Amino acid sequence: MKTIAIFNQAGGVGKTTLTRDLGFELQHRGKNVLLIDADAQGSLSDFLDLEPFGRPQGEIFWNTVCEFEPPAPFTPFLEAAFGMTVGIANFSVIECEQRLSFRNISTILLDALETLGNSFDFILVDCPPSVHEIAVQVLVAADEILIPVQTEQKAFMGLTIVQNEIYKANQRRRRFKPPLRIGGVIPTIYNENRRVHRFYLEEIQKFAQDGLRCPLLPPVRDSIAVTEASNARKPLKLYKPGCPVNQDIEAIAESLTGRDEKNSPVEVTVTHG
Ligand SMILES: Nc1ncnc2c1ncn2[C@@H]1O[C@H](COP(=O)(O)OP(=O)(O)OP(=O)(O)O)[C@@H](O)[C@H]1O
Ligand SMILES: [Mg+2]
Repeated sequence: MKTIAIFNQAGGVGKTTLTRDLGFELQHRGKNVLLIDADAQGSLSDFLDLEPFGRPQGEIFWNTVCEFEPPAPFTPFLEAAFGMTVGIANFSVIECEQRLSFRNISTILLDALETLGNSFDFILVDCPPSVHEIAVQVLVAADEILIPVQTEQKAFMGLTIVQNEIYKANQRRRRFKPPLRIGGVIPTIYNENRRVHRFYLEEIQKFAQDGLRCPLLPPVRDSIAVTEASNARKPLKLYKPGCPVNQDIEAIAESLTGRDEKNSPVEVTVTHG
């Protein structure tokens, strides 16, 4: 079982669509996939047609995390969508986050996910655009982080905050887990015809190599079909199988499944700044 945080505190960089489509691609390859929606916006649950809004608290994944008291069993309410299993979020996650901060149990999500044993090959967590308690819990519980980022100035500048959050999470997990493996930076919504995108792709590559010391994964190209798939509440591969963005997602899935762990990126401890 591998838990992957799809994280960037910057908003609108493509975290949720990447989680949906990468999750679907992994299950298409025969993997057993759990997707966890960690965002009060509930976008992932909505993009998968799970109608998260108006659901009772008991059906919200983070509510079960809040109430989890080991050694009692962790029994989240989970839904099925497109061959995957999903932990739903909606705006009641805001209250869950306050309760989690109040409980002050720094590894509650990690403890909860450990009870799932090897029920899943991959757990992908769609992080919120924030650096608050739920995001930190995810970074503490995850084995690996994938960092989607747009090839534009604002998103590029925000990478130093991502680096700092990884550092903070590594401090918190020190007694429980090895440092977070940085699986890679993924340039998103990329249009190679735009000079500014090509420029920031190079800048991001340098930062990945020299700052985060992690691979730059293949860019996910810009296509209106991605947004249309969300509006249709389907994974892109089902909505538009011929869309070239599917090949980009396949390449990222390949980097996760076809990886020779011996030659995979080294686990690094990121230092501040
Ligand atoms: N490859 C792509 N091509 C075109 N548009 C895209 C692509 N990926 C994402 N988008 C669009 O960009 C917007 C933001 O995407 P998404 O919701 O996945 O980002 P996010 O990082 O999860 O946002 P938030 O920080 O609010 O959670 C959406 O309108 C989405 O349809
Ligand atoms: Mg999102």
